[in-house]
Amino acid sequence: MTTPTFTPRVFSGIQPSGGLTLGNYLGAIKRFVSMQDEAFETIYCMVDLHAITVWQDPADLRRNTRELAAGFIASGISPEKSILINQSQVPEHAQLAWIFNCVARMGWMKRMTQFKDKAGKNAEAASLGLFGYPALMAADILIYHATHVPVGEDQKQHLELTRDIAAKFNHDYGVDFFPLTEPVIEGAATRVMSLRDGSKKMSKSDPSDASRINMTDDADTIAKKIRKAKTDPDALPSEAEGLADRPEARNLVNIYAALNDQSVAEVLRDVGGQQFGAFKPLLAELAVSKLSPISSEMARLMADPSEIDQILKRGARQARDITAPILEKTYEIVGMVR
Ligand code: TYM
Repeated sequence: MTTPTFTPRVFSGIQPSGGLTLGNYLGAIKRFVSMQDEAFETIYCMVDLHAITVWQDPADLRRNTRELAAGFIASGISPEKSILINQSQVPEHAQLAWIFNCVARMGWMKRMTQFKDKAGKNAEAASLGLFGYPALMAADILIYHATHVPVGEDQKQHLELTRDIAAKFNHDYGVDFFPLTEPVIEGAATRVMSLRDGSKKMSKSDPSDASRINMTDDADTIAKKIRKAKTDPDALPSEAEGLADRPEARNLVNIYAALNDQSVAEVLRDVGGQQFGAFKPLLAELAVSKLSPISSEMARLMADPSEIDQILKRGARQARDITAPILEKTYEIVGMVR
């Protein structure tokens, strides 16, 4: 069989399980925005079905889904250039996930570090959905035959599993139907760390609000969190190697570089030799200037969620033009009578 060529297509998703953080913005959304101007079809998704693998209050889930959509749009994702959807309005994601539940192996799923982290010590009490989560994620991507998936570093293992599922499906059925998707993990901030502890990822689930910058934080809050961010007593180095054993310093420089579309080397050329007392106000000013316009646009969009609901409805219709034929063909390959 000849290897099919797949349309260059980008898919990525974010869970509406709380507010957006600077980690989500720099690790994911900023990349989503730039990829819509490259030679790709782009589809971006609020993964509401993933969110309920851990219990969500229904009113919060509804609000968080709309707020996440507002965050996407306010950050520069254009509903004219990209398909914007919430997962549950495109049922083919869940339908393909069932088939992938039957392709993925228990042993593969047991190795997933995100499940181990999220389930914690009491894995017996975790939902079955949390365990099967990566099969749904593979379905999100492969129901579009997506070729590229921009994500932060923490999603790498899930993308390797996605490739394993695609390869096993193709092998088991003797087809070349699903592409082996490329992860796109690029830029200065693929792993933004907590402001309180440079060894922990910045996360919406950290109990300390001071550990993260939320996209809805106001200017004073952003400045205060940066002022209080953990650092070390030394001045900033002039070259990137000087950050190797300084996780907190490295994190702040990475954040600066990513916000300002610079490399770490370029940033250090300008600020090398400075103490944190001088660098932190620069970083705070930069963060406020980049994030404030986004949070005010989010607030404007949230004032009338009907506009967001319309965008998501239209996105679902466009998405299903792609997903319905791919699901149909999958069923045919598997042997379902149609
Ligand atoms: P989620 O919702 O945890 O995070 C969304 C995106 O933000 C990135 N990210 C970070 N990047 C850098 N530094 C951080 N501190 C940081 N925190 C989060 C994540 O890497 C991710 O790109 N399983 C996914 C959602 C998902 C998905 C998909 C992604 C479901 N289906 C299909 C891609 C394709 C998740 O929980 O992301």
